Amino acid sequence: MATTTIEVEAAGKSRHNKLDRWVEEVAQMCKPDSIHWCDGSSQEQQSILQLLVLTGTAIPLDQAKRPNSYLVRSDPADVARVEDQTFICSKTKEQAGPTNNWEDPAKMKQKLAGLFTGSMAGRTMYVVPYSMGPIGSPISKIGVEVTDSPYVVVSMHIMSRVGSHVLDVLGADGEFVRGLHSVGAPLVPNQPNKPWNCNAEHKYICHFPETREIWSYGSGYGGNALLGKKCHALRIASVQARDEGWMAEHMLILKLISPSGQVKYMTGAFPSACGKTNLSMLIPTLPGWKVETIGDDIAWMKFGADGRLYAINPEFGFFGVAPGTSMKSNANAMLTVSRNAVFTNCAMTLDGDVWWEGMTKQKPSKLIDWLRRPWTPDSEGKAAHPNSRFTVAASQCPVIAPEWEDPKGVPIDAILFGGRRAGIVPLVTEAFNWRHGTFLGATVSSETTVAATGKVGQLRRDPMAMLPFCGYHMGDYFAHWLKMGTVTSASKLPKIFYVNWFRKEKDTSKDSNKNKDKEKDLAQAKFLWPGYGENSRVLKWIFERCDGKVHAKDTPIGRIPEVADLDTSGLDLPAAKVEALLNVDIEGWLAEVPSIKEHFAQFGTHLPEGLNAEVKELEQRLRAAK
Ligand code: GTP
Ligand code: SPV
Ligand code: MN
Repeated sequence: MATTTIEVEAAGKSRHNKLDRWVEEVAQMCKPDSIHWCDGSSQEQQSILQLLVLTGTAIPLDQAKRPNSYLVRSDPADVARVEDQTFICSKTKEQAGPTNNWEDPAKMKQKLAGLFTGSMAGRTMYVVPYSMGPIGSPISKIGVEVTDSPYVVVSMHIMSRVGSHVLDVLGADGEFVRGLHSVGAPLVPNQPNKPWNCNAEHKYICHFPETREIWSYGSGYGGNALLGKKCHALRIASVQARDEGWMAEHMLILKLISPSGQVKYMTGAFPSACGKTNLSMLIPTLPGWKVETIGDDIAWMKFGADGRLYAINPEFGFFGVAPGTSMKSNANAMLTVSRNAVFTNCAMTLDGDVWWEGMTKQKPSKLIDWLRRPWTPDSEGKAAHPNSRFTVAASQCPVIAPEWEDPKGVPIDAILFGGRRAGIVPLVTEAFNWRHGTFLGATVSSETTVAATGKVGQLRRDPMAMLPFCGYHMGDYFAHWLKMGTVTSASKLPKIFYVNWFRKEKDTSKDSNKNKDKEKDLAQAKFLWPGYGENSRVLKWIFERCDGKVHAKDTPIGRIPEVADLDTSGLDLPAAKVEALLNVDIEGWLAEVPSIKEHFAQFGTHLPEGLNAEVKELEQRLRAAK
C-alpha cells in the first residue's frame, strides 16, 4: 500500500470548520493517497485532463477538427443511471413513498461505510465545491462533492460552477449538501489502473434527505456520479423545495421570441431522452420566430414579489444525448460541441474525431466503436452507445439567452409536459387550469429509454418526468404542486400544456409490452409528426394561447387546437395526419382511466383529493362525449 498518511493541501482548506471536519472524516474512512481541493481554474481543468490522457481514460481529439476536446469510453457495465440501485433513505419508508427504493438510513450508512472503507486507496481524493445556480443568486444552493474520479471532476467543472469563489460564498458557516462519491475500485500497488474504474458488483446511489447527504458508490457515469445534477439538483432539492415553498423540476427552460419581438419563457418536463435538450435550443422552421436557451434539463422555480413564477437553470453545462444529434436535427447542439467538449461512449473516426448514429446521413466506412473495436457499417451493433453523451459548457451554445445567468431567473408563461406515447395523447393539449395541469403532469406516461439501465420501450407512468428523481413521497409531491397553484392569483400562474411529438400511425404500444414481434412493429412504425424544428409550430400556438389570441376547442381531455389554427404553412403534411395528431380518441381515453386510477391508488392517503376529483371529472366528461 502506498501510504496511509494523508497530505492535506493546507492552502486549499476552507474557512468552514464543518466542511474541513467532514473532509477529514471522509478521508480517514476512504484512505486516499492524497487530497486535492479544487480551485476551479482552467489550469486545474487542463492538468486533470492531461492526467486522464496519461492514464488512458481520455483520448484527445484532433486539435484542428475539435479543439481541446476528448473522448472517454466507459466500462460496458457502467453506461447509464441505475434506477434499481438508487435509494431515498428518509427516516421512514412512508416518507420515500411507493415509487422510490428505500432503506433505513442507519442501516444503509453502515453498509456504505463498509464499502467506502479504504475505497480510495491508491487514488487522489478531490474536493469539489460547487454552486448550483449563479453564484450569489437567492435561488442558488451550494454543494461539495468529494470524489476519487478525475473524470467526474472534469465533468463537474463543465456542468456546475466550481471553485474557490464558492467557498467564499459559503464562508464560515454556510449550508451545503454533502456528496461523497467513490468508483469503488481501490488500487493495490503495482496493479495497473484501468481506463475506466467502477465496481462491477456493488452500485449504490443513496440520498439522505433529512441530513442533505448523498453517498454514491460503484459507478462513474452521468447522473450516478456527477452529484450536482440529479442527486442534488433534483432528489435533495425537491425535498428542500417542498420545505421552503419552491419547485425543483426536471425541466428545460426556453425563451420564445415572436416575429414582432415579444418574448415568452417556457419550461418543459419530458422524461429522460424524450427531447428536452432538442426543444431548448430548437431552430424554428416558422419564419421570424426564434428560440433562445436558458437550460436543457433542470429548472428551479420560485415565486417573485410580483406573484409570478421565476426559473433559473441551476446547471452550467449540458450533458446531452449524442445519438440523433445532427446539423439537421439540432444544429445548435452540434455547434456547441465544436470545441472544449468531453464525449463519452461515442465512436471515434480514423482521423481523430467523434461520430454517433444519426450524426451524418452516410455512415463512415470505418470507425472505432465505443467498445474500442474496429467497426464498419456491416458490423453488428451500434458504433456509439445509444446513451453516449457530450459534456459541454452551456455558454458555448450559439443561442444561449443573454439573461440565462440572471440571478433572479426568468418569469415563466407556460409549463409543458410530455412523453413518448405512440397513441392516444394528442400533439398538444392545454389544461383547463392549474389543478387540471397538475393532473396532466401527474399522469404523464412514456416509453422507457436508454438513459437508465433496464428494458427500453416499456410504457410507464413518469409523473412530471420526476419518477426517478423525486426525493420524497410522490403523493406529497403532487400535493406540493397543487399548493404552489394557490400562492398567487390564477392569472399570474403559468398555463400548463401536454405535448406529444411521438404519436405514431399505428399504436402498438399496449401490445408491445407482451409481444416481441409487435415490439419490432412499434419501433418501425413512423412518427406522425416531424418533430425537432417543426415543434415551433406547436410552440407558436402555445405562445398565442398565453395571450388568448388564438381559439382552442374544449374536449373531455383538455383544450385542443382547431386543425386550421395549427400553423402548418410550408409543411408537407397531409390534413389527415394533422387530424390524426389532434384526434381525441374517446374510447382510447376511457380505456386509459382504469390505469390512471391504478396509478393513483398506489399513493394511498397521500394522494391529494384534487387529483381524485380530476380523474372522476375526466371520466364523466368522456362518458358524456360518447
Ligand atoms: P436527457 O438528457 O436524458 O434528460 O434527455 P432529453 O430529454 O434532453 O432528450 P434529447 O433532447 O437529448 O433527445 C433524446 C432523443 O430524442 C434524441 O435521440 C433525439 O434525437 C430524439 N428527439 C428529440 N426531439 C425529438 C422530436 O421532436 N421528435 C423525435 N421524433 N425525436 C426527437
Ligand atoms: C437523464 O437521464 O435524465 C439525464 C442523464 O439527464 S443523467 O445525467 O445521467 O441523469
Ligand atoms: Mn435529464
